[in-house]
Amino acid sequence: MRILSGIKPSGEIHFGNYLGMLKPMIQSQGRGELLCFIANLHSLTSVNDADRIAGWTRQMAIDILALGLDPESSVFWIQSDVPEVCEYAWYLSNYTPVGMLERCHAYKDKVANGISANHGLFAYPVLMAADILAYEVDRVPVGQDQKQHLEVARDLVDAFNHRFGEILVKPEPEIREDVAVVQGLDGQKMSKSYGNTLGIFADAAEVKKKIMAIPTDSTPLEEPKDPDANPIHAWYSQVASPEAARELADRLRAGGYGWGHAKKELVAAYIAHFEPYRKRREEIASDLAGVRRILDRGAERARAILRPNLERVRAATGIRWEI
Ligand code: ADP
Ligand code: TRP
Repeated sequence: MRILSGIKPSGEIHFGNYLGMLKPMIQSQGRGELLCFIANLHSLTSVNDADRIAGWTRQMAIDILALGLDPESSVFWIQSDVPEVCEYAWYLSNYTPVGMLERCHAYKDKVANGISANHGLFAYPVLMAADILAYEVDRVPVGQDQKQHLEVARDLVDAFNHRFGEILVKPEPEIREDVAVVQGLDGQKMSKSYGNTLGIFADAAEVKKKIMAIPTDSTPLEEPKDPDANPIHAWYSQVASPEAARELADRLRAGGYGWGHAKKELVAAYIAHFEPYRKRREEIASDLAGVRRILDRGAERARAILRPNLERVRAATGIRWEI
């Protein structure tokens, strides 16, 4: 089974990205052949700053390797290093009704928020369909927000195959409904756009400062407390052992234990949880030429996977022809 996952380099990896996407992706390595790429071309639709895109792309490559992506058993590359996907997207564009793209929520929401749309933003789902279809993948695990984009890819398979025969492979979506939405520091969904994130590689001082500032109610110390009243316990259960998480909930419910104590436990557990990854990250970052080699080799392998299907599409559309 071939699984494909893409992540946009549009900021530093936060706890929500980690639990909602990166951790399940890295765990999926045992289930089949994982293809993972950094979708820097997609970032161009929302970030208009060369240094930031380049910096986040490099950092994300290092972070994903540090978190345990194995570049031998998985294929790991930067989207733009296989520019054939842009060519592929062009073929698909000619089978993409404008109305289908106009109905996409991500596009509609941005327009409703006053963003003046350009063609890149409008065509975002077509490039994403190319990422998926060119590599002939079976499964695409994504969060709820990407469900509609996956449906576009599936509809394009029907439209293209109806015209040319069975050339494109229809991917099965894997919507991660089981992965809970991670709350941000303020209790809303954690998101870069809300400024309520905590980076997984934030330094100890920042982790402490942000966690200690999480708003809590003013229940007196001796009173029982609801462990779900704020994100503290939920976060703690993701970075501590199940027994430690149960004990913390019991102590909060019993009373005589304050949120300040719970926050300190969370700070310690959070830092300890990411410590091994932080060490690994430093090692990887000290050999950037090695990272480049991994990504180049990944792009070569990705290109070899895409080539046969691309050739079939070129031939079917009359772009590749014989004298
Ligand atoms: P942000 O909302 O911070 O801009 P992105 O949209 O770039 O994050 O998220 C990349 C992936 O990380 C998404 O596909 C989504 O599945 C996952 N993700 C982001 N925020 C959360 C969250 N709060 N809880 C769970 N998963 C999340
Ligand atoms: N649009 C996805 C996101 O914002 C990233 C992405 C680009 C992607 N191409 C993809 C995800 C192909 C899965 C498959 O999260």
